[in-house]
Amino acid sequence: MRKRRSFLYARTPHLLLLLLLVGGASAARRVSRPRLHRIQKHLAKINKPPILTIESPDGDIIDCIHKRRQPALDHPLLKNHKIQKSPPEFPRSLGPKPNDELRKTTAGINNSSSTGTWQAWHGNGTWCPNGSVPVRRSTVDDVLRAKSLFDYGRKRPSLRLSKRQVDAPDVVSGNGHEHAIAYTPGTSELYGAKSTINVWDPWIEQGNEFSLSQMWVLSGSFDGSDLNSIEAGWQVSPELYGDARPRLFTYWTSDSYQATGCYNLLCSGFVQTNSRIAIGAAISPVSSFSGSQFDITILIWKDPKLGNWWMGFGENTLVGYWPSELFTHLADHATMVEFGGEVVNSRAEDGAHTTTQMGSGRFSGDGFGHASYFRNLEVVDSDNSLSAVQSISTLAEDTNCYDIRSSYDADWGTHFYYGGPGKNDRCP
Ligand SMILES: *[C@@H]1O[C@H](CO)[C@@H](O)[C@H](O)[C@H]1NC(C)=O
Ligand SMILES: *[C@@H]1O[C@H](CO)[C@@H](O)[C@H](O)[C@H]1NC(C)=O
Ligand SMILES: *[C@@H]1O[C@H](CO)[C@@H](O)[C@H](O)[C@H]1NC(C)=O
Ligand SMILES: *[C@@H]1O[C@H](CO)[C@@H](O)[C@H](O)[C@H]1NC(C)=O
Repeated sequence: MRKRRSFLYARTPHLLLLLLLVGGASAARRVSRPRLHRIQKHLAKINKPPILTIESPDGDIIDCIHKRRQPALDHPLLKNHKIQKSPPEFPRSLGPKPNDELRKTTAGINNSSSTGTWQAWHGNGTWCPNGSVPVRRSTVDDVLRAKSLFDYGRKRPSLRLSKRQVDAPDVVSGNGHEHAIAYTPGTSELYGAKSTINVWDPWIEQGNEFSLSQMWVLSGSFDGSDLNSIEAGWQVSPELYGDARPRLFTYWTSDSYQATGCYNLLCSGFVQTNSRIAIGAAISPVSSFSGSQFDITILIWKDPKLGNWWMGFGENTLVGYWPSELFTHLADHATMVEFGGEVVNSRAEDGAHTTTQMGSGRFSGDGFGHASYFRNLEVVDSDNSLSAVQSISTLAEDTNCYDIRSSYDADWGTHFYYGGPGKNDRCP
């Protein structure tokens, strides 16, 4: 990549500037011809030739890609990969099923997972044909919003969990990621996690900031370069998507967010099997204050037979899987799972805290219908059974900006409210 870049520059010493009219937004940008060429080359690699193209009412283009041509199979470790046909065994729910109770308490909740149309593009009415998978098409504009082609689809490393790192230079210099999360204490052998996540559309102050709500399935060390992480949830990221809608997303890395991994299908790795769910597509509708609440249920677990990490959506829908080959520590098992929110606080102007919201933008104390929640937190044990998370630790770097409060009851099991407005009187 690097080599080719300098080669191109060498051949065109006088950079031709051209005006590029981008998409419907018609934002005129100056892009050098070599850069545009590199971007288009990259896009040609990740945007596979579609069998059918579906235009989403929200402006996204969803390409239906033959499943054997999907980006995952470009990965050098997956050259001879056979896409798993027979579904893995879903983890068993042991003990008394909370479902009957759950239905009563959550009768007032719109369960997005169960409705057939919960992504904006479903509004088109056209679906991808069998044997193909829906993939959100990346545009030149998407790449131009990233710092560089290398950065497109990647997460810049964040500092977490160790309190001493709150004062680390990275945070002070304005690259601060802030969290309000719950995590399984100590280290144990874990094989997955499940939870139901309330969906909101938090305000984002700066285009390069984001707000997400997700699960992390982790193994390796936080201070080394070998952290393995599988992540899924919803996020609002103007930089990545060009708008402020909450979107279903996935992420993976096997080296602490350095050279491996990416969001969604923006690099090779995640093998999609579902023809109705597009990763990176907007979730619609979302929750409103004192009004309808929408939530999504996500399950990530390791197939005990073949070792792949699967993603499930709702109660029994498979989305796809991360092949075991992608990982080092996670090729074996996870040692920790986390649930919660993360925002980027770029302190862009005069060092003030960002007004980017986490969750619904309300603190945990505001409760149901106001604050965002995660409910029915569960982990997957070595015998492929789901069990309720018994004890949970919480962490928030500055509870004056974003906070978290966990609780337990029979219907929602272990659950928590989390979030906040960012900048306010107590968080200047
Ligand atoms: C659905 O997608 C097709 C193909 O891109 C497009 O022509 C059509 O206008 C879309 N329909 C709706 C309702 O958005
Ligand atoms: C969502 O709805 C479906 C179908 O109505 C139900 O089976 C499932 O248990 C619900 N999920 C949750 C987490 O409430
Ligand atoms: C597509 O798959 C579904 C579910 O397996 C099946 O019901 C349907 O008949 C298939 N459609 C075609 C055109 O093969
Ligand atoms: C569920 O969603 C529909 C459509 O947005 C809405 O009309 C209805 O009031 C919601 N129900 C509840 C109980 O929130």
